[in-house]
Amino acid sequence: MNAGICGLGSALPAQVITNEDLMATLDTSDEWIVRRTGIQERRWLSGSETVADLTTTACLQALADAGRSAADVDYVIVSTITADRITPGVAPEVAFRIGAHSAAAYDVAAACAGFIYALDQAAALIESGRAQLVLVCGADAMSRIVDKSDRTTTVIFGDGVGAVLVASGDYQFGLQPFELCSDGSLGDLLYVDNDERLIRMQGQEIYRNAVRCMAEATRTALTRAGMTLDDVDLFVSHQANARIIESTARELGLPDERVAMAISHTANTSSASVPLALAYCEREGLLHAGDRIVLAAFGAGLVWGAGVLTWKEEARVAA
Ligand code: UT7
Repeated sequence: MNAGICGLGSALPAQVITNEDLMATLDTSDEWIVRRTGIQERRWLSGSETVADLTTTACLQALADAGRSAADVDYVIVSTITADRITPGVAPEVAFRIGAHSAAAYDVAAACAGFIYALDQAAALIESGRAQLVLVCGADAMSRIVDKSDRTTTVIFGDGVGAVLVASGDYQFGLQPFELCSDGSLGDLLYVDNDERLIRMQGQEIYRNAVRCMAEATRTALTRAGMTLDDVDLFVSHQANARIIESTARELGLPDERVAMAISHTANTSSASVPLALAYCEREGLLHAGDRIVLAAFGAGLVWGAGVLTWKEEARVAA
């Protein structure tokens, strides 16, 4: 048995923050933000809204999308660096709220690359026979940790959640082995420390490394899967900045029509950005069952990676 994605869900906070809204408190402009990042607006949590609320919604959607029951879920894995509390994590609360009462549930922290790290874990659990059905969520509320007086970070980050349901089955292709990497020597380029609890980032250095790392990991993941870029229907990378996505695609030689660009209304939602981009592309008719796609992500650590899969592939024999 191998692993395949069979359901997708997403959720965004109600509060919309436009570039004009940020101009009220920051020395910035709509023109600068759109030209340098491609972002027009972002969503931020407000009132009593929590990461667990959004994650619960996204998970229920993913289950409904796949026509599967929460009672059958073996693991709920939530990638987040902005959990509602230091402990417990988001995952146990979500598992309880959706009715996944027999599931193991835990959070993982691999910053903006966390979703693909968690997805690879889900595949490994399924391939080893330890699980049949796993919910994988990318869930972040970056508005909680941006320094609202820092124009270089406040404008690019948003909040949101995406979730996929990963199922065991006899898939012809399924989820191929991911290429996951790290380089702790560059940890000071992007961090949040315990005292301050605010994002500090050397934007240009992060930008350069993001392009290089995501392009390299993508090539390696494709080689492992026995594929070339010509076989890729859609490249779905971390949505950190439209220029990073464009530069990475250019480096790989991918044309615009095979590159997911979903940043304008959600901004950089850290580990939620890849599944939110999947949801956007599916909604817009850019992603279809059976498409061969590459996921790539990059974040603080540094940590990054890429993986190849067939989107909502039909299992020859379901588990
Ligand atoms: O999610 C994973 C990690 N994060 C990322 O991948 C983000 C990576 N970095 C970036 O996306 C970009 O580096 C930023 C969007 C953060 C910054 O864009 P940039 O094109 O690299 O700008 P820059 O840092 O080179 O700054 C150019 C100018 C500077 O002014 P001076 O020194 O030339 O006068 C900045 O102070 O733009 C200024 N600037 C702004 N101006 C208006 C920086 N932020 C803003 C702003 N509004 N919000």
